[in-house]
Amino acid sequence: MLFSRISRIRSTGSNGCRWFLSHKPHLQFLNPPAYSYSSTHKVLGCRENFSWGLPALHGFRHNIHHQSSSLVEEQNDPFSLVADELSMVANRLRLMVVTEVPKLASAAEYFFKMGVEGKRFRPTVLLLMATAMNISILEPSLRGPGDALTKELRARQQRIAEITEMIHVASLLHDDVLDDADTRRGIGSLNFVMGNKLAVLAGDFLLSRACVALASLKNTEVVSLLAKVVEHLVTGETMQMTTTCEQRCSMEYYMQKTYYKTASLISNSCKAIALLGGQTAEVAMLAYED
Ligand code: FPP
Ligand code: MG
Repeated sequence: MLFSRISRIRSTGSNGCRWFLSHKPHLQFLNPPAYSYSSTHKVLGCRENFSWGLPALHGFRHNIHHQSSSLVEEQNDPFSLVADELSMVANRLRLMVVTEVPKLASAAEYFFKMGVEGKRFRPTVLLLMATAMNISILEPSLRGPGDALTKELRARQQRIAEITEMIHVASLLHDDVLDDADTRRGIGSLNFVMGNKLAVLAGDFLLSRACVALASLKNTEVVSLLAKVVEHLVTGETMQMTTTCEQRCSMEYYMQKTYYKTASLISNSCKAIALLGGQTAEVAMLAYED
């Protein structure tokens, strides 16, 4: 999914997202003429390598003479490509929200418990992005799933997946209070089960733990990106809450609000994955955009 989209980066056709993103002032240099052949080639190079890179990363014994349909299906299923890592991320999230105050502990872990983790769309996309971003940066002689540099880089990128998920869940806890929701992910929403006050505090707590994890990466550019995302979430939610009749008819307003409320988190997290991977600003912007 992600990889076939990367191959379309230079396509001239526009989709809704690209149309919208072209309205962002800091993205002006993404207009097609600004792409250099070499950087595009580098990104496409990631994709070319992908078919052999991923099986290596995940320990598949890939035999081109023996492709059963189930193997092909497994390789094409983005969730199964990162299934093991998704479990690791889920386990770490449970550990990251441990705290000594019992009520806060049960509120904070509420949506990280097994079975209510949601679709895990964000961590899946981010881990796949990490795979795409990491293939080209290390010298072939140093590269491989088992070497220390690769492992360390991957661990740092997994931290981004965890931080992103924490910010996302924090925003949902607050959103459910604002919307007076009574269900979320098929169970009672936290505000419904434990009350508004604890739900707000649990959201604040998740944000604070996300900040601690973010600081531990010691990368100020990545910290700034994700701090901006939190601002965007609040801005988007406020825009939605205060929409005037006129704004309700404006596609531009709708797209701006939706970028802040939804797209900014995944886009900037993808960019953070690329930056941690040592990619150039140009490639990081492609990760953000696509
Ligand atoms: C779901 O919207 C809500 C969001 C995607 C973001 C909400 C953001 C905030 C409440 C700002 C506070 C942010 C943080 C990080 C604490 P929805 O109501 O349209 O969708 P739903 O059906 O899933 O509730
Ligand atoms: Mg809601």
